[in-house]
Amino acid sequence: MATPDRNLQPVNLPTDWTPGGWRARPAVQQPSYPDADALAGVQQELRALPPLVTSWEILALKQYLAEAQEGRRFLLQGGDCAENFTDCNSDVISNRLKVLLQMSLVLVHGLRLPVVRVGRFAGQYAKPRSADTETRGEHTLPSYRGDIINAPEFSPEARIPDPRRMIKAHARSAMTMNFVRSLIDGGFADLHHPEYWDLGWVTHSPLADEYHRMVAGIGDAVRFMETLSGAQVHNLNRVDFYTSHEALLLPYEEAQTRQVPRQWGWFNLSTHFPWIGMRTAALDGAHVEYFRGIRNPIAVKIGPSVTPDQLLKLIDVLNPDDEPGRLSLIHRMGAAHIADKLPALLDAVKRDGRRVLWICDPMHGNTESTSNGYKTRRFGNIRSEVEQSFDLHAAAGTRLGGVHLELTGEDVTECTGGARDLTDIDLERAYRSTVDPRLNYEQALETAMLIVRKQAQIAAPASA
Ligand code: PEP
Ligand code: CO
Repeated sequence: MATPDRNLQPVNLPTDWTPGGWRARPAVQQPSYPDADALAGVQQELRALPPLVTSWEILALKQYLAEAQEGRRFLLQGGDCAENFTDCNSDVISNRLKVLLQMSLVLVHGLRLPVVRVGRFAGQYAKPRSADTETRGEHTLPSYRGDIINAPEFSPEARIPDPRRMIKAHARSAMTMNFVRSLIDGGFADLHHPEYWDLGWVTHSPLADEYHRMVAGIGDAVRFMETLSGAQVHNLNRVDFYTSHEALLLPYEEAQTRQVPRQWGWFNLSTHFPWIGMRTAALDGAHVEYFRGIRNPIAVKIGPSVTPDQLLKLIDVLNPDDEPGRLSLIHRMGAAHIADKLPALLDAVKRDGRRVLWICDPMHGNTESTSNGYKTRRFGNIRSEVEQSFDLHAAAGTRLGGVHLELTGEDVTECTGGARDLTDIDLERAYRSTVDPRLNYEQALETAMLIVRKQAQIAAPASA
């Protein structure tokens, strides 16, 4: 557990670090802005704008993540692959919040553990791409890199990186954050009223029935406790929500990196919990350089090509003092590779006694294209990666402390399989993602339920 001293004085303050020091390292996945002065002007403007989060929220989350590392909490991290400016509206935001609240209720109830809720939202606007350019017919243009950088339309004007988009992304993040905070403060997350979280378009679902039975049971338990104690059970009408995004676009992140009164060091105040994507996690790269100097809890995506030796070096750089709650490792191997790749990493980290929070992202290693041209993920593969993760951690004597999911509260058909057994043909009905396919409401809830069932099986193998 973090001692208060860690907040007052550094164990080992990196004196050789500045928010812009990343510029001396190779920075991959960055746009090339045509006008350097315009970029500098935007950075200046961003530095003067109010921050999106506070240092005390960041440190509170770090403490929760430290508890998750010890098995005393479970992390649920989820949201869109990429937010876009047009989806910054009340329905999309509140529907996503509803699904995350429902999932967290299922997890709290089934795992008997408090859940740390972290959204992939209020800043998830920058995307790494597998190619710098996109060709359609005879035309080649720069790739779409997320709404914070350029626009998805396939036209030369739309694809020019525009630094003004950073100001817009900051504003949209603030609006999203403000709406989420207001909903929660206004009682939206009140356990006495879980009916607030029902999604209008879900008319009937076998999962919804199971979910509603669970909610009724919890409601009875709450009323029973309140009758016994003669008072309202506190802390049920308020939950904490934290934000996260891939801190990919370094000029934006740099401009949001600040010192605050009565705290040592630097904080990224654009989000509570930034992560490094798989494509930008090189040890000597700009992203690792930037991340090592901020005091936020941070995460790194770990793909199948990472070796145990590379991983230990990365941990040395990103968490040299083995600070609790500081570092999470999000493995995203793919259902076909996880059994092959993960055990050696788990063993190496365990053998070296490094303190990390292990998180499973069962989405990004399972992306494929269908014959009708859609980028999709099969629910069976997602399920398999989650289940294998639990088994592999159990076998290694490590602990899976959370999941990282791409999901939406909208009625989309982007991933196949799941409760309604969506097929490749169904993808044509409601495929809306501009980047990766997301779990819809039912598939997300089903994932929460399968986590609970799998955890119960691991905890009591004899009765499984
Ligand atoms: C993502 O989380 O959207 C992403 C691009 O993941 P990864 O870095 O794991 O590929
Ligand atoms: Co994605």
